[in-house]
Amino acid sequence: MSENAARKLVSNNAVLYLPDGQTIELPVITGSENEKAIDISKLRSQTGHITMDPGYGNTGSCQSKITFLNGEKGILRYRGIPIEQLAGKARFTEVAYLIIYGKLPNQQELDAFRDSLNHHALLHEDMKHFFSSFSGQAHPMAILSAMVASLSGYYGEASEVEGIDDPDMNAARLISKIRTLAAFSYKKSIGQPFIYPKDSLSYCANFLRMMFAVPARDYEPDPVVVEALNLLLILHADHEQNCSTATVRTVASSHASLFASISAGILALWGPLHGGANQKVIEMLERIRADGGDITKYIEMAKDKNSGFRLMGFGHRVYKNFDPRATVIKNACDKVLDKLGIHDPVLDLAKQMEEVAVSDDYFVERKLYPNVDFYSGIIYRAIGIPANMFTVMFALGRLPGWIGQWKELMDDPTHRITRPRQIYQGQTAVDYVPIEKRT
Ligand code: CMC
Repeated sequence: MSENAARKLVSNNAVLYLPDGQTIELPVITGSENEKAIDISKLRSQTGHITMDPGYGNTGSCQSKITFLNGEKGILRYRGIPIEQLAGKARFTEVAYLIIYGKLPNQQELDAFRDSLNHHALLHEDMKHFFSSFSGQAHPMAILSAMVASLSGYYGEASEVEGIDDPDMNAARLISKIRTLAAFSYKKSIGQPFIYPKDSLSYCANFLRMMFAVPARDYEPDPVVVEALNLLLILHADHEQNCSTATVRTVASSHASLFASISAGILALWGPLHGGANQKVIEMLERIRADGGDITKYIEMAKDKNSGFRLMGFGHRVYKNFDPRATVIKNACDKVLDKLGIHDPVLDLAKQMEEVAVSDDYFVERKLYPNVDFYSGIIYRAIGIPANMFTVMFALGRLPGWIGQWKELMDDPTHRITRPRQIYQGQTAVDYVPIEKRT
């Protein structure tokens, strides 16, 4: 290395040597937790090169103050507060406020936030008719995404970013209405009447009542179930630049509305490699149980690249040691099922599967551990949520994160439209051939 380059490195810049002899000095950005990034924003204009990083495993897309996670150490913090503390002590509405507004609310702020959520809990009556238009086979995630997008048609000021006069109101509308939308789509799917929200109940109790009450009977949400739901929603509330959040930011970067951006995020979440994994985990465990419970057979299948089978709920792009959310959920599983007096043989199967996998060389070498989706479905099932609604529950939890990230991007005056480049590998220039001359 030349003396000049060495001096520049000491000055905290990185120096990149390209095969064609060019050298470029690149600034290094250091985060508040000492994470390092090489800023390549001038790379193409100064050298003609781009970087290649399919899946963006090494690419930072933004600087954010919302969530910190360290995959090697299994750390997850929202606005600096460890997930373990929030999971044990906070209410979901407090966590939503924390993520969106950057601080825990005081009592007055929390009361005002809750009032706002209550105020926006109802859907426009016309929207109820939409539910009848979906086929009985429609997946609740398809319904949820379509209904969230259609909110733009009812709350017009949100349909164009320039016209947003009150982003806080739209945030409250979404957090509150998504719960009503989710419960109404479930009621429609089982042919029961819609149950309207009730202001006196907490966020989670209100949702459970809309899901499970019927007009003919009194309904009192079980505090154990309310607590379990509160815990799960908090654990899902944000996870920095995951696939759905990156989607929300990408869509927002074109100045699409909050409703449009989050509708797209819901669809990204639906995929089985992302939030859709929670439904797939239960289906996988049920399949194994029905097949005689032979765990080793399925572990071997997961290791065989030709089988097309992956161990759902295992592995993570970022966590390479353990997923702290999975640890909390696994502990909660025992407690919740115990308190509800439920014995789910699938929980035993899941624990056995984890035990076998974490001591198998294939999983150890690739650092594959249970993720947030491995045990969450067992709790959802115990509290009465059907499997095809599991990913909807993930969306309810993740909503504050999407909103906070949307807001952070919109508040950043330096943000640009997301527009990656590519390296073209197709046919080089050829002439158009008239149809009669084509072979
Ligand atoms: N079962 C078997 N092998 C796996 C699994 C799995 N679940 N996950 C990864 N691998 C293998 C993979 O085949 C590859 O092996 P090799 O190096 O021999 O080619 C290696 O591990 C690395 O995998 P990758 O696909 O390159 O890892 P990734 O970071 O691109 O993918 C993942 C992460 C979560 C998509 C993946 O682990 C996976 O498909 N897991 C199952 C689906 C799942 O549980 N998703 C929920 C993720 S957590 C909640 C959320 O964020 O939504």
